[in-house]
Amino acid sequence: MNGPRSVTRASDLREELAFWRRAGETVALVPTMGALHEGHLSLVAHGRRSAARTIVSIFVNPTQFAPEEDFGAYPRTLEADLEKLGRVGVDLVFAPNQDELYPPGFATTVLVGGPAAAGLEDRFRPSHFAGVATIVAKLLILTHPDQAVFGEKDFQQLAVIRRLVRDLDMPAQILGVPIVRESDGLAMSSRNAYLSAGERETAPILHREMERASALASDGVALAQAVSQARERIEQAGFAVDYLELRDCETLGAPNESTSALRLLAAARLGRTRLIDNIAWPCFKARQ
Ligand code: PAJ
Repeated sequence: MNGPRSVTRASDLREELAFWRRAGETVALVPTMGALHEGHLSLVAHGRRSAARTIVSIFVNPTQFAPEEDFGAYPRTLEADLEKLGRVGVDLVFAPNQDELYPPGFATTVLVGGPAAAGLEDRFRPSHFAGVATIVAKLLILTHPDQAVFGEKDFQQLAVIRRLVRDLDMPAQILGVPIVRESDGLAMSSRNAYLSAGERETAPILHREMERASALASDGVALAQAVSQARERIEQAGFAVDYLELRDCETLGAPNESTSALRLLAAARLGRTRLIDNIAWPCFKARQ
């Protein structure tokens, strides 16, 4: 099977884009860091449905990793990624090297507030969203897509990007795609590859307990009690919980009178692997 056309230079990307634009074709961008799985491919499928042309970028972005994080160890599987993208059909892969996007002397950072300062991921990864916003802004400026597709897996990231494009008047429409899970409920993630066999068996408990909490709340259990019970059970299973919190699904702040829907968001460490997950909270009784 032939892989899709792949370019490493921004100039080649621009050339191809100009060609499509002249033909009046719409473009969807799917930004990724590679090590692709069904979750990423679901974003590609959404891209293909929403635009005539779909571009996938593959770039392990150094600026969103803190020095002690896993930038060096992050899985890099370009050949397998291209093979998967060839099977689902994308029009172009943009897989630049580091110098192409961060040339020597690079000195600009896009700082985001609002949902990026909600006290969730940002509490544990203080420089993360500045790195994400900087690279996503660059990719959106390079490709000026009609749609850019992101997963709800990284729910805070999605909120940050929606804020970024609104605040900087970027014309791309941001599409959010539901989480793709393994059959046992574990959210697919490139980082699941770090889990030992034993940890892999424990890992689905995070999502299971989140769902259990939401079911309890539907049965009338107070929200705070349902969430704290879930936290206890997750910790008993061997996780170190960074956060498990019910938030306003748009601002990611604490729910208030103008909250229309809630989201339960979690990050928890299992051995050396940090898992994140989130679920929609069906029954909304914020003032309980
Ligand atoms: P990465 O972790 O590779 O994820 C790329 C996209 O795939 C993100 O939008 C993420 O939310 C989505 N995704 C990952 N797992 C998913 C799953 N199980 N179901 C649905 N979507 C899933 O997120 C990043 O890369 C980077 O921060 C990036 C936006 C590319 C900027 O560097």
